[in-house]
Amino acid sequence: MNDQANKLRLLSKNAYQYEDKPKIVTNSPIARVISITSGKGGVGKTNLTVNLALALANFGQKVLIIDADLGMANVDVILGCTTKFNIMHLLDGEHELADVVVTGPRNIIIMPGGSGITQLANLTELQLQKIINEITRFDQLVDFILIDTGAGLSRNVLNFMLASDEVIIVTTPEPTAITDAYAIMKAYATSNGSGILKLVVNRVVNQEEADSVIDKLKKVVSKFLKLNIANLGYIPEDLNLIKAVKIQQPVMLSYPDTGCSRSIEEIAYKLIYGEGRNNTGNQTGLKGFFNKFFNILS
Ligand SMILES: Nc1ncnc2c1ncn2[C@@H]1O[C@H](COP(=O)(O)OP(=O)(O)OP(=O)(O)O)[C@@H](O)[C@H]1O
Ligand SMILES: [Mg+2]
Repeated sequence: MNDQANKLRLLSKNAYQYEDKPKIVTNSPIARVISITSGKGGVGKTNLTVNLALALANFGQKVLIIDADLGMANVDVILGCTTKFNIMHLLDGEHELADVVVTGPRNIIIMPGGSGITQLANLTELQLQKIINEITRFDQLVDFILIDTGAGLSRNVLNFMLASDEVIIVTTPEPTAITDAYAIMKAYATSNGSGILKLVVNRVVNQEEADSVIDKLKKVVSKFLKLNIANLGYIPEDLNLIKAVKIQQPVMLSYPDTGCSRSIEEIAYKLIYGEGRNNTGNQTGLKGFFNKFFNILS
């Protein structure tokens, strides 16, 4: 067994026993903003977002999830918790940041974005600034901000990708999902996207299948789009995930030892320590995210 896998197992085992494991000090005071997206719908973005957040939290990281799937926001459904307000309520003078977020298991924070995020474009400069000033406090409060976007080649999804320092693209081994993943990367390249792209292959039968998908995509993306994508890992097809969705409990909590939970822990580990780490030193946090987002819109 290699060292990294061994360390991972030990760390996560301990973390299950000791909920209040000390926080790992991150190098940067600014949160890492990561969009989680896909070309084809239904490939596993929301489940990855929620369970990755829980795995990162288990490694001592503080995580905020922004549910930015404008059509069908359902982070709260998978977590089995309800949210009452959205970021637009920050404007009415009666609600503050603590009212529009909910705290989930392992203290992950969930901010329901929903249609609130597109409505931002219709606000006055002053209103917008008020909301952004409030929200960007998270840059200092958390280590990771995971943005669960919708699927597909829409302007909205592309904007989220372009504004993020890091983007996780989820695909399955299905040819349609791979083709659609390529299509969004092509749109990203055409729009001069310059963030770090990372691929997760979900619902694989085994590692060989995952490797073959990543190899194929890496080659075409490098040859035709001149982009580099990092291999962030794979997640096996796992019946326990389907069971977990039905009982509205994240699989990481209901079946922590099942294949997909273990794989998502490895992905979390890689994000923090491994080749998937953002070591460019130029992450811009949520503030940078909103600056880029509104520059694109205007
Ligand atoms: N590793 C897996 N093993 C088995 N089933 C899975 C796996 N990943 C996802 N699924 C199935 O796919 C469904 C959709 O997953 P999820 O909601 O996370 O996808 P999504 O990409 O967020 O979808 P949308 O594009 O609609 O937002 C799950 O409810 C589950 O039934
Ligand atoms: Mg989803």
